[in-house]
Amino acid sequence: TATQPWSQRFETALHPAIARFNASISFDINLIEYDITGSQAHSRMLAKVGIISAEEGEMLVNGLEQIRQEYRAGDFNPGIDAEDVHFAVERRLTDLIGDVGKKVHTARSRNDQVATDVRLYLRDQIRKIQTDLRTWQQTLVNKAEQNVETFIPGYTHLQRAQPISLAHHLLAYFEMAQRDWTRLDEIYQRVNVCPLGSGALAGTPHPIDRHYTAELLDFGSVARNSLDGVSDRDFAVEFLCAASLIMVHLSRLSEEVILWSSQEFSFVKLSDRVSTGSSIMPQKKNPDVPELVRGKTGRVFGHLQGLLTIIKGLPLAYNKDMQEDKEGIFDAVVTVRACLEAMTILVEEGIEFQPKRLAEAVAEDFSNATDVADYLASKGVPFREAYQLVGKLVKTCTSEGILLKDLSVERWKTFHPQFEADIVDAIAPAQVVKVRNSYGGTGFDQVRIQVEAAKQLIA
Ligand code: ARG
Repeated sequence: TATQPWSQRFETALHPAIARFNASISFDINLIEYDITGSQAHSRMLAKVGIISAEEGEMLVNGLEQIRQEYRAGDFNPGIDAEDVHFAVERRLTDLIGDVGKKVHTARSRNDQVATDVRLYLRDQIRKIQTDLRTWQQTLVNKAEQNVETFIPGYTHLQRAQPISLAHHLLAYFEMAQRDWTRLDEIYQRVNVCPLGSGALAGTPHPIDRHYTAELLDFGSVARNSLDGVSDRDFAVEFLCAASLIMVHLSRLSEEVILWSSQEFSFVKLSDRVSTGSSIMPQKKNPDVPELVRGKTGRVFGHLQGLLTIIKGLPLAYNKDMQEDKEGIFDAVVTVRACLEAMTILVEEGIEFQPKRLAEAVAEDFSNATDVADYLASKGVPFREAYQLVGKLVKTCTSEGILLKDLSVERWKTFHPQFEADIVDAIAPAQVVKVRNSYGGTGFDQVRIQVEAAKQLIA
C-alpha cells in the first residue's frame, strides 16, 4: 500500500491478497518486546557514537518505551498494512515523536533486526524451558523418593526382563531431562551472539559500535561476519532439535503411562483430574494427557524438519523464505512448555501407582531366571553352562504350568547338585532387586544414593 516505507520506489500499490500473503505481522507481533528492546539499544548506540544527538537518542528510547506500554495495555494492534512488526513499530514511533522517529533505522536493516529479535526471544524462552525442566525433574525425584521399594517389571523388547525399583525407572527420565537442560545451556551460548549492525548483508558505512550495542543487549559476543550474521539460523535449528528431544523423552514416558493404565497392565490408575470419559462407552477413562503429549511430538519434529528444509537451498544472505522460520519456533516453544506442564501435573497428581499389582506382576513370571543362573555362577558353575541349565528349567516349568518359585528344594537339587535351600530366597523379587547394587543399578541402596544425587543436582 501507499503507506509502506518503500512505496516511493513503486508505481502502484500492492495487490491486497499479496499484501496479506507477504505480511508476517499476525505472528511476528510475538517479537514486539524484543524488537523494541533491540531498537532501544541501537538508538543508544547511535547517540553514543554521535550519529544522532543525545537528545534524539533519548526521544527514540522513550518513544519506543511508550509503544511497549501501549502494547502491554492492549492498545497497539497494527493491521496487515504494517507488513511486519519492525515496520509497525517504526511507523508508530514516527507517529508518536515525529521526524526523529525516522532516524531509528539508520545503520540498520530489517535483516539484522529480525535476526536479533529471534535471538533475544529464544534466549528468554530457553531460560523458561530450563526452569520448566527443573520443575519436571523435581516432580520425578519426589515420586522416586516415595517409591524406592516399589517394584515394577523391567522390560526389554516389551517382554518381562528383570524386576526393578520404580524409583529407578522414574530416575531414568530424570537423567533424560538433565541432558535436555544442559543441551539447552550449550545452545544458549550459540544463540547469545549479536548480529545487529550486520546491516542488510554487508555492514554499514556509519561509524557504529557493534560491541556497545551487543553489551547493552547482554549478548555474549558479536557475529563476526555480516553475511553470516543475517542469514544464520543454525541456532534455531539447534533449538528445535533440543525441543524435539524433550518431546521424545516425554513421549516415551507417555507411551508407558498409556500402557500402564490399560486393563492389561493395570500398573497405574489415572486420577479424575487428568482423565476424560467417552461420549458413548460409560465405563471408559481415557489417558488423554499422555496421548496428546505423544501426538504433539509430531508437530515439534515437523518444525525441525521444516526449518532445515527452509534454509537448505538459500543463497546468501537474507531471503524472504526466512520469514517462515518463526511460526515453527513459536509453536515449538508453546508446545514444549505446555507438555512439560501437563506431564508434571500428570506425574505429580495424576498417576496412582498400584504397588500391590506391581508386586504381583514381578512375582508371576520368569524375570528371576537370570538370578538362578547367577546363583550357580557364584558357586563356580561357568555362567554359560548355568544359563543353559536354567533355560531347560524354565522350559520344564512352562510345560508344567508352574513358576520357579513353585519348585521344592528337592526338585531344585534334581536339576543341579549345587542348588540348596537358600535358592528360594535368592529368587524372591525383593532379593533380586536388592542385590543389583552396582553403580547405577537398581539395588535399593544404590537407588537411594541416586535419589540423593539427583536432589543435589537440581538444588
Ligand atoms: N518479516 C521479515 C522476516 O521475518 C523481516 C525481514 C524482512 N527483510 C526483507 N529484506 N524483506 O523475515
